[in-house]
Amino acid sequence: MIEPQQKPRYKIYQGFRIPMGFPVEHFESALNYQAQPGDAFIVTYPKCGTTWTQHIIWMLHHNGQPLPVGKDINLEIPHLEEVSAEFVANLPDPRFIKTHFSYELTPFHPEAKYIYVARNPFDCVVSFYYHTKGFVKHYDFAAGTFEQFFECFIRGEVDGGDYFDHLLAWYDRKADKNVLFLTYEQMKANTRQAIIEIADFLGPEYSSKVKDGEILDRILHHSSFEQMSQNQSRWSSKRPADIPFIRKGQVGDWQNHFSETQKARLLKKFIARTAETGIGQLWPDSIQIG
Ligand code: A3P
Repeated sequence: MIEPQQKPRYKIYQGFRIPMGFPVEHFESALNYQAQPGDAFIVTYPKCGTTWTQHIIWMLHHNGQPLPVGKDINLEIPHLEEVSAEFVANLPDPRFIKTHFSYELTPFHPEAKYIYVARNPFDCVVSFYYHTKGFVKHYDFAAGTFEQFFECFIRGEVDGGDYFDHLLAWYDRKADKNVLFLTYEQMKANTRQAIIEIADFLGPEYSSKVKDGEILDRILHHSSFEQMSQNQSRWSSKRPADIPFIRKGQVGDWQNHFSETQKARLLKKFIARTAETGIGQLWPDSIQIG
């Protein structure tokens, strides 16, 4: 393995890599957040469809209305480790919370709900590369190359930690009754179905909303890549300067970025880390094993 000449920069706190713009004390307090019975967490490894899921849930909670202009989804459904436990604790019930914490770190309550969204690691690393390159104040990696980022990702030396550790621990919990395990690819293939599954999981108040075809159609419309991509400049989220946050929204974009060697290396790691878990079956169309 070659040491990349340039790497993203992070704050290091107790061995965790944190984007430089995140206050360490918020991250520290997030580790001590006490989950409440009504809480619903959206848990992801970065770049696996978090924002998409946040918008779907926001709309489910607001009868299919899209997030108004000027609002920031990351304050409405806040990112726990960015905003702090105090911020989240002060939200009205029911609380919807985003986190990239690993399973071990995610605040647990048996009556809280956890929606986990996984994405194939090939597309994830490409999306994560653009994210890291774009948020210059968080990572100072504007001139970084995909090759350099790939090395950091495959070693788990990025702010999401090790992709496989994250996925494996949550995949193990997928049958728990307070866990809904989805994939980005499944959401792309049948968004309507994914919205219904999320609503059913959140409870009767939400499943009754999607029985109203009009509300479901509105959510479907406003959560499409096209709509969200057009609207991103009207919402007030902090965005990278040049690279759009809602960037391409495709399955298989990795094919445009990987060298043959990178493909073989990530596939080898994927096979080694997911052997006998069933994870290989999650992406039969995007990852050809064997
Ligand atoms: P790409 O960089 O591959 O385009 P996260 O919100 O977890 O950071 O994930 C970001 C990824 O989700 C980006 O992937 C982004 O384009 C994609 N995404 C966001 N909204 C989407 C939507 N409505 N439909 C499909 N993909 C979406």
